[in-house]
Amino acid sequence: MVKSIGPKKIRTAVFISGTGSNLKNLIKFSLKKVSPIEINLIVSNNLKAKGLKFAKMYKIKKKVYNYDKKKDSEKKILKDLKSNDIKLICLAGFMKILSKDFIRRFKGKILNIHPSLLPKYKGLNTHHRAIQNKEKYSGCTVHLVNSKLDSGKIILQKKVKLSKKETPSSLQKKILKHEYILYPRAISKILVNL
Ligand code: GRF
Repeated sequence: MVKSIGPKKIRTAVFISGTGSNLKNLIKFSLKKVSPIEINLIVSNNLKAKGLKFAKMYKIKKKVYNYDKKKDSEKKILKDLKSNDIKLICLAGFMKILSKDFIRRFKGKILNIHPSLLPKYKGLNTHHRAIQNKEKYSGCTVHLVNSKLDSGKIILQKKVKLSKKETPSSLQKKILKHEYILYPRAISKILVNL
């Protein structure tokens, strides 16, 4: 567990690959007085990630790694995390799988948000699969990252009801709204002042 000491905010990096709507939401949260985190670094594997625009908008440092060679990229990321004194990592639509070694170095300090009620629908195309299986409910989960995909300890979950005419895109929109509430809550939950 990460402990926040006094009023000082935990230095946090957010990893993204795409739109970055969760990133934007986490930035807004971090700027609140009640937030236990500050966002000091945005990491991406994708130079074209739309979410990178939030770096400029909110004056946050960003770093893009080409990820051709995973080992080399992770080495560089770890170096940058260290030089920026990052203590917590929030994955938010980051489409690369971190190596065991990387995770070990940040054990208990990497969070991810996944758009399903884990352990159901790990991996991709969650909304499509939930609809095909005629699920009545789906939702989102914030969990700690371990070496198995979408399998670490669950911090918080939110259940969302599917409508009869649900499509993957309508379900994605519906769940995203709940993600914006759940992720900050989960962060606050693990960063309790002791
Ligand atoms: C979200 O649905 C999140 O649960 C998943 O990837 C999506 C990222 O969306 N891990 P965005 O880039 O934050 O808009």
